[in-house]
Formats: sequence, C-alpha cells, structure tokens
Amino acid sequence: MFFRSMKISDTSRVVELFRQVGRSEFPVPSRWWFATRLLLPTFHVFVLEDEKHQVVGAAVLNRLPNPKYNWCGHIDYVVIDKPFRGRGFGRKLMVGTIARARALGCREVLLSTSTPEARALYHSLGFQVLSSSSSMKLSPQTHCS
Ligand SMILES: CC(C)(COP(=O)(O)OP(=O)(O)OC[C@H]1O[C@@H](n2cnc3c(N)ncnc32)[C@H](O)[C@@H]1OP(=O)(O)O)[C@@H](O)C(=O)NCCC(=O)NCCS
Repeated sequence: MFFRSMKISDTSRVVELFRQVGRSEFPVPSRWWFATRLLLPTFHVFVLEDEKHQVVGAAVLNRLPNPKYNWCGHIDYVVIDKPFRGRGFGRKLMVGTIARARALGCREVLLSTSTPEARALYHSLGFQVLSSSSSMKLSPQTHCS
C-alpha cells in the first residue's frame, strides 16, 4: 500500500471514488470542483494505491485557521473502492491523512460522519464524538497507527 498526494492525472479516478461516498447533502465533486480547489494551499486530496499501483481510496483534508491550534484539519470524503473494503486500506488512508494533517500544522483534527462503519474506524483511531452531532474530534495528543 502506498499513500500519496493526489495528482491531476488521478482526477477521473478520484471523482469516481467520491461518487461512492453517497452524501445527499453535499454535491458529488466534479472535475470543475477539483479545478477550483486544488490550487488552494489549504486544500489537500490524498490517495492510497494498492500493490499494483492502482488508486483504491481517497480522502480530502481542508485546513482552516484556528486561533488556538494554528490550523484545524477537517477530513472529508474518506472512501475506499467497494471491492477493496475490509482489508485495512481505510485505516491506512486515515493514518496517512492524519499524519499529513499533523505535518501541515493541524493540532486538532475534525470530521463528520453518519456512516456506522466509518464511525467504528474513526473511533478505533482515537476520534471522540462531539456532543449532539455527527462530528468527531481527534485530540492533539493522540498518535494513530
Ligand atoms: C469507511 C471506509 C473508508 C472503511 O474502509 P475499509 O478499507 O473497509 O476499512 P478497514 O478495512 O481499514 O477497516 C478499519 C476499521 O473500520 C471498521 N470497519 C470497516 N468496515 C466495517 C464494517 N462493515 N462494519 C463495522 N466496522 C467496520 C472496523 O473498526 C475496522 O477495524 P479493524 O481494523 O479492527 O477490523 C469504507 O467502508 C468506505 O469507503 N465506506 C463508504 C464511504 C464512506 O461512508 N465514507 C465515510 C464518509 S465520512
């Protein structure tokens, strides 16, 4: 498994993967959506490759300025291609994304989910549910592996 930043040439594959996230409240990211965001220094997309170097998963990290923690990282659109789920790829993708968020100055990392399997994964990585919401927070002290 190989974790890396998304390249422009990955766009079609990543759009295809994000279609599987199935969040009715958000638009499915399109090529146009990427074109308007990929130039922003605070917007990051990471991908995970399998041993054959095919992209099997992707995740978005948005960094927002935070008076307490310098940057606050928001992870979104975490997805592993359906045939590849349940083999540890999701964990690898999340561990890589969190490590990059930390390296980019995010002491606090937040995400929001209503998917039970995703929630179980995030819990196992140390995320805590924030009161009365679908948001989860990873404390600055937590180290994930
Ligand atoms: C959530 C998702 C990324 C997990 O990817 P994955 O590759 O299947 O996850 P892994 O194989 O690394 O499993 C990691 C952990 O996730 C949890 N998990 C994964 N699939 C699960 C399932 N079907 N039921 C319950 N828990 C599950 C477990 O806690 C597992 O822990 P373990 O390593 O101790 O077994 C994947 O299911 C997915 O893409 N779902 C659709 C998109 C989505 O809902 N994304 C979240 C949007 S915020």
